Amino acid sequence: MSASPVYVAIINNNLPSQSILIDVGSEGVAPPTFPHQAQAQAQTQGEKPALGYSGARIFHDLTSLLQCIETEFGIANPRLTPYPVDPSLLLKSALDNQADRVSDLKASNLWFASGSPGRHQLPLPPGNVLDLLPAPALAMIDLNHKYGHFFPVSLGPRPAVVVSDPYLIEEIMKQEDCFGKFTNAGPLHYLKPVTGNGLFTANDDDPVWGMAHRILLPAFSVKSLGSAVPLMNQQTKLLVEAFRTRFLEKDETFDISEWMSKVTLDIVSLFGFSYELNSISSAEQHPFVKHMVFLFEYAMTKNKLGPLSGIADGIDWFTGGNKEQKVQEAVTFIMSTVNEVIKEHQADPDKYSDMCSRMLKTEDPETGLKLSEENIAFQIVTFMIAGHETTSSLLAWTIYMIATHPEVEQKLRYEIETVFAKGNGNIDEKSVGELKYTLAVLKETLRVYSSAPLFTKQCTRDTFVGPYLIKKDTSILFHTINTHRNQAVWGANPEVFNPDNFLPQNESKRPQYSYIAFGTGPRACIGSQFALIEARIVIAHLLHNFKFTISDDAEPVLQVKLALLTLDLDTAKPASSNRSFVIQSEADRLDVGEVLVLFGTNMGTSEDVARNIADSAVKLGFKPTVASLDTYANEKLFGFKFVIVATSTYNGNPPDNAKKFAKWISAQGQSSLKDTIFAIYGVGNKQWKTYQDFPRFVETSLVNLGATPLLERGAGDVDGDFDTDTLKWTSLFWASVAYTFKISGSDASNVVDPSPASNSIEVTWAGKATDAFLQNFQNSDNNISSHLGRFRYIVKSKTLLTKPGAVKDAWSIVLEIPASETNKYTAGDHFEVYPRNTEEDIVKLSNTNSIAKRELQIFDTEIPLRYVFNGVDIRTAPTRNFLKFLSGCTECPPEKNALLLLAGTDEASLRAYTEQIAKTKASIADVIERFKSLRIPLGQFLENVPLQKPRLYSIASSNLITPTTVELCIGVLNEEHHDLKGQSVVYKGLSSNFLAGLEVGGPLLGHIRPHGSAFKLPEDPKAPIVLVCAGTGFAPMRSFLEERKGLKQKGVELGEATLIFGCRHPDQDALYSSELQAHLESGVLTRLEYAFSRFGGQKEYVQTLIVNKTDLAEQLWTGISSRGAHILLCGSTALGTAVRESFVKIVERFDGRGKERAEQYIAALAEAGRYVVDVWG
Ligand SMILES: Cc1cc2nc3c(=O)[nH]c(=O)nc-3n(C[C@H](O)[C@H](O)[C@H](O)COP(=O)(O)OP(=O)(O)OC[C@H]3O[C@@H](n4cnc5c(N)ncnc54)[C@H](O)[C@@H]3O)c2cc1C
Ligand code: HEM
Ligand SMILES: Cc1cc2nc3c(=O)[nH]c(=O)nc-3n(C[C@H](O)[C@H](O)[C@H](O)COP(=O)(O)O)c2cc1C
Repeated sequence: MSASPVYVAIINNNLPSQSILIDVGSEGVAPPTFPHQAQAQAQTQGEKPALGYSGARIFHDLTSLLQCIETEFGIANPRLTPYPVDPSLLLKSALDNQADRVSDLKASNLWFASGSPGRHQLPLPPGNVLDLLPAPALAMIDLNHKYGHFFPVSLGPRPAVVVSDPYLIEEIMKQEDCFGKFTNAGPLHYLKPVTGNGLFTANDDDPVWGMAHRILLPAFSVKSLGSAVPLMNQQTKLLVEAFRTRFLEKDETFDISEWMSKVTLDIVSLFGFSYELNSISSAEQHPFVKHMVFLFEYAMTKNKLGPLSGIADGIDWFTGGNKEQKVQEAVTFIMSTVNEVIKEHQADPDKYSDMCSRMLKTEDPETGLKLSEENIAFQIVTFMIAGHETTSSLLAWTIYMIATHPEVEQKLRYEIETVFAKGNGNIDEKSVGELKYTLAVLKETLRVYSSAPLFTKQCTRDTFVGPYLIKKDTSILFHTINTHRNQAVWGANPEVFNPDNFLPQNESKRPQYSYIAFGTGPRACIGSQFALIEARIVIAHLLHNFKFTISDDAEPVLQVKLALLTLDLDTAKPASSNRSFVIQSEADRLDVGEVLVLFGTNMGTSEDVARNIADSAVKLGFKPTVASLDTYANEKLFGFKFVIVATSTYNGNPPDNAKKFAKWISAQGQSSLKDTIFAIYGVGNKQWKTYQDFPRFVETSLVNLGATPLLERGAGDVDGDFDTDTLKWTSLFWASVAYTFKISGSDASNVVDPSPASNSIEVTWAGKATDAFLQNFQNSDNNISSHLGRFRYIVKSKTLLTKPGAVKDAWSIVLEIPASETNKYTAGDHFEVYPRNTEEDIVKLSNTNSIAKRELQIFDTEIPLRYVFNGVDIRTAPTRNFLKFLSGCTECPPEKNALLLLAGTDEASLRAYTEQIAKTKASIADVIERFKSLRIPLGQFLENVPLQKPRLYSIASSNLITPTTVELCIGVLNEEHHDLKGQSVVYKGLSSNFLAGLEVGGPLLGHIRPHGSAFKLPEDPKAPIVLVCAGTGFAPMRSFLEERKGLKQKGVELGEATLIFGCRHPDQDALYSSELQAHLESGVLTRLEYAFSRFGGQKEYVQTLIVNKTDLAEQLWTGISSRGAHILLCGSTALGTAVRESFVKIVERFDGRGKERAEQYIAALAEAGRYVVDVWG
């Protein structure tokens, strides 16, 4: 078996799709014999195998290719990786007689099989050193687009290759004996007079490097660096002060890079050798810095010019320049300063605890030796050089990214304000670790704009990298930017800034060497943790105090300065080219004052959100006014500078108490709210196509009136994890509030981390309840309830509508209307039911020691307590705030911690909440039952638990026939799901089971709710109607048919009425069937079409029936197109969507003008109130 080198090309273009080409051998090497050459040629469908350069063979699928590599070339488990070079360079000769194909090949279509040494010469470098000037690292970005992730360049006398493929980097890093860091040439060589054999510039074979590395590495661990945090805070606070006094009041622009450089210099110099440069406070550059920068620039220019540098030196000498003398001066100044400081340290060893002192005191654990004084001096200068511009460039870019990515800024602010809040305005060692998103932002900035764009290793003996022969003395240039923008790893748009790339779950998925911002291997950056801690602290303080914007005329320019990638914000005016950042003035921050919190709701969800926000606002000193949107459908709204809205949507329309507002706001003038800031949270159900329609409308309307959004609109999906949605948005909201209004960190903690309500409800012992008291209490039901807008209805009759075999029971429940409420309903209206909690749930609350049992003893009887429990919702999922409340009601550490975990907002908590609460649908009662150590004071429980939400039912009767009763048609909900223990249990819907369990003669708290929309019979009784429904969606259809019956009895002439009714089986759930027959006979109903989904072999649904049944479809089309028919639909959200699509199909079929037009047609019908739905989302 031949061990020939192998590389593989996948060519998608002119060859049959997904064909694969293996190219074996190389120049001068005879291609191995293919055992199946003939067959392979046949496979090429007449394509000529490539000649000359090598033997080639084309495959049509990956499996046969991999098999071939394994069996014919003896490579086990071959791995395919993207081919690193421009195919035209490599395959030109291979395919020279098919040259037109070569131009179509793309690097991304080429792969090579690794695990196999190749024997290819690298192609000639593109261009020469002049082509790479003035900034080779940037020029290489373009070359990468052209030549892929492994290509040669001419930079000097030595051969050099640029690499940015993670797998090739891995191959290099694994060959430790073939590649190393040697600084006898290159830019670092020119720095040696001041850095000598310090860590950065020492050669790999210098034993001093190992000593210094062992002595210093422990000092750069996260733990040890905790001691540098106060220093970093202190210097950053000086920076904040400088910004405040120099720029803030004057609203001036300034150069961000310059200031970041000052702060990092001062920090690293104090950290390294307690040397005060005072760059932040003084206007002049310290001479030490001046000389250091000069030397660094000199070294870089020398290196960049490579062989041309001799000519440049000649020109310098010829034109009277004195560069060499300046170099000498710089070296002398730097080294004498450092040596002087070392002497001071030696004179008073206990005074200092910096790196210099550490180096003077610490022995190398391996050799027992200490570093020489000379080497300590080199190390100190090394820290100054390696540790300041790198971090300052990172900081400048980060602020630029924050200023240009508002969504990132919002998240950052939230995190930072939370950390400041917890730390009472400080950042300590622990809180640095909590700045996780900030860290992700920094790492992502270093990905897109790496401070160190290039670093180099030398090849020490001939070896192979991928298929290439790399000769001894070749320089390998690791190109960080290209590596970080490698599409195979970072996706199609790697230049897009996305800090989520560095969330832990995403980080772990990437190849090891795809991120090399801090170098790789033993010579990787020793100061990476120092830089990331420092940068977190600086960014946190800056964002806590300021908002940065970029002046309008500034254009960011990528620039390599001192071999580092820096940010140059070039403005249109050269004179101010580097003065481009503006700090938002303090005066723009607002005082805490009045706030208007409005809600639009039918069932209370949005009102709850609004009231919670208002409660928290009080804690921050705001004076909130809470009201429905309709209450402010007038000019009173203009009096508020801060308005918050939480609202839901119904069929894309406003909820009932926001309808007036919607109308009013549409008619207002342009800028009546120009000084107002607003925030909006939309509540809805994602299953609806019209998700967020009304909140979006409110948002647009407010913006049109000149109001400014405080942050992006929030969206809570009640079909998903609503509490998490709400928590995430409100957290961002409070962080934005804290910043916009002058709120200090510690105050903000009240809301960022809300505390549960406590102590406003007191429960006292009322004595043993007498029978008379209880009787009175029961009778007061009506009074209390009517005060709350609920009334006491009495069950008059109850009939099971379904037959044995039906999967879901349906009941007719007839209720006697209390006298005060008669004559108040029309067909199509709803009825609100306030269900009682089940005995089973209440027992869960009374597990051994939690509330009920203890309090029961106080009450001495169950009845009043039960009554209290009926008003609260213990079936709903507990919110974080409720879980936090519970955590305060236990003394048992494991249970407290488990509850706190569920209540938290970090990654682990969100996961725990999803797994244990959201997925298992655990209710408040379930959680209280689970945590046996809970001791919950009843008063606090009542304060924190949500109120019971009413359920809506369509009224199934007509006022014309039964004015003193309402009839409901109830489907009893029993569905399977998995509980906390993972066991399959049947979930019994609270209200539907409660209704089904009512006794005739028993009471029910309820309320007639008029239907706000056009879900009514048409005003003209002669207009044809089409009723479409499924299951208990028949309820309102029955009310319409009853209404028609009443009208008929009064002698009113009726138009056609078609009912299309979806059921499972005629003998199980064809509800009210005999009544429908009677309606057919009397003419109340003119056509009845059933769609049975479990009958007669074929599954039929209403949405399929109306399309498939030709005469029905024709009738529907004639009805809507020429007879003014009204369509009324009721059922689930899914049914609503499917039926609408069917109507679109019908229009498309008969109208013949395409789907888009058909959709518009139905939309127009809906707009005209002739296509009306009442679906239960
Ligand atoms: C406008 C309108 C009109 C309506 N008209 C009618 C009608 O005429 N007839 C009719 O039968 N229905 C009607 N409904 C539906 C009705 O309002 C109720 O939604 C339905 O009866 C179920 O209520 P429930 O209390 O029994 O179920 P709930 O207990 O409220 O449960 C509802 C769903 O929530 C989930 N759930 C909630 N808590 C838990 C938990 N702890 N564990 C597991 N799952 C949980 C379940 O998935 C369940 O499917 C109408 C709804 C609306 C909005
Ligand atoms: C964002 C900030 C930083 C970046 C991007 C960065 C990047 C790098 C890179 C890429 C290397 C490897 C160079 C090579 O292999 O030739 C390196 C090495 C080094 N860095 Fe950093 N660096 C940063 C901050 C710092 C800081 C703050 C310090 C010190 C306080 C520091 C000290 C060093 C030292 C001493 C080395 C040489 C390590 C050795 O060879 O043993 N760096 N850095
Ligand atoms: C009849 C009906 C219509 C609905 N229409 C929509 C809708 O168009 N878009 C949407 O996102 N949610 C819709 N929903 C879901 C509600 O917005 C959701 O139940 C929300 O929690 C109600 O909030 P509220 O309690 O504040 O009214 C609808 C719900 C019902 C019952």
